[in-house]
Amino acid sequence: MRREKGLKKIEKTFRIPLPEIRKFIRDFHSEMQKGLSGGRGSLKMIHTYVEKPKGTEKGRLLALDLGGTNFRVVALELKGNRKMKAPLIEKFVLKKKHIIGKGKVLFDFIADCIKTFMNKHNMPIGAKQKLGFTFSFPVKKKGIASGALLRWTKGFSASGVEGEDVVKLLNGSLRRKGLSNTKVAALANDTVSTLVARSYEDPNCDVGVILGTGTNACYPEKDRMIINIEWGNFNKLRRTSYDCELDEDSGNTGEQIFEKMVSGMYLGEVARRLAEDLLPKIRFPGGFKSEYISVVESDTSKGLTITNRLLKKLEIRNSKYADRKFLKEACTVVSTRAARLAAAAISSVVTRMDPHLSKRHTVAIDGSVYEKHPHFSNRVKAAIKEIFGRKALRIKLVLTKDASAKGAAIIAAI
Ligand code: BGC
Repeated sequence: MRREKGLKKIEKTFRIPLPEIRKFIRDFHSEMQKGLSGGRGSLKMIHTYVEKPKGTEKGRLLALDLGGTNFRVVALELKGNRKMKAPLIEKFVLKKKHIIGKGKVLFDFIADCIKTFMNKHNMPIGAKQKLGFTFSFPVKKKGIASGALLRWTKGFSASGVEGEDVVKLLNGSLRRKGLSNTKVAALANDTVSTLVARSYEDPNCDVGVILGTGTNACYPEKDRMIINIEWGNFNKLRRTSYDCELDEDSGNTGEQIFEKMVSGMYLGEVARRLAEDLLPKIRFPGGFKSEYISVVESDTSKGLTITNRLLKKLEIRNSKYADRKFLKEACTVVSTRAARLAAAAISSVVTRMDPHLSKRHTVAIDGSVYEKHPHFSNRVKAAIKEIFGRKALRIKLVLTKDASAKGAAIIAAI
């Protein structure tokens, strides 16, 4: 009985009803305006020096994608008629020493990976090669191929990088590794790359969104320049005590408040904090990964046996059915809130460009949360329908995989 009462209370505090979404949109619009006019809001609204591509860009290019636990190198051929050849992609895993060690170690590793990639695919090491670099962190752009890291997010803390031009740091490593003819021609955020990659093929695309380890979006302003919103830092939000405690215990208290309620880096941790009284063995931070949310919410078996198997893996051997049911509810409220907040943010961006939805908009979305969670994309779509009614048909959400590297290559070709 007590548990049921507790559950009702939790459901209520995590619910985001339509009036709250409408308030979110109003606040988001005013924060966007503040950011654009140089005020001190929570949205940075970074000018990217990039416009949408025309679809005629051509060439063979290399691209790098750094922003989560994987680092990718991609080779791409653009045909110039809104088409591209299937890219070559290699994934490399970042170790702790790259993520939280010295910046030089991180950038040297990147240069080594490029070399490995070139050798594997018989590309001449010393030859001139244009490179697009997707770097998925808040960067103050100074031009198309330069920009200083404002601050690390998503658990990165490699030293000597904040405040520095990341293209300069990469060029230094390229030189040290004998790749001085490999030149960074474009530096881009992953949202910008995603938007550019999708709009190369689909001219209606005007929003790029990432819902993965971190979260963020971009769109073209009236002057056509693409703005990197850095929406992960939006903070006009109603938080629960769980959110506040998570924030207090994080390495970047007071920052990335929206990201902490929406992205894969944190969702598992929010759910864990909800369920820890019942499942004491997961009492340590990080003990419940976001991907487990997908496992639990996909479990439709009668006795929640898949969840039981997962808990056994986490050394919780004798969970009661009621505990498993509670865990499933906890996962559901946390991920549903995330989906509705994501829908509110997407709606805010679209209506900034087109308040009455008089045109069609394709929203290109990439990221593990959107791609892998069994219900996330449907819940985002349902919330957008609730917000706009029939007009929601004008907003098309498309999963755009691997775009974050491709887009940087296209920008390098512009
Ligand atoms: C970063 C953004 C990035 C997003 C998605 C956030 O933590 O600040 O720059 O676009 O993650 O990767």
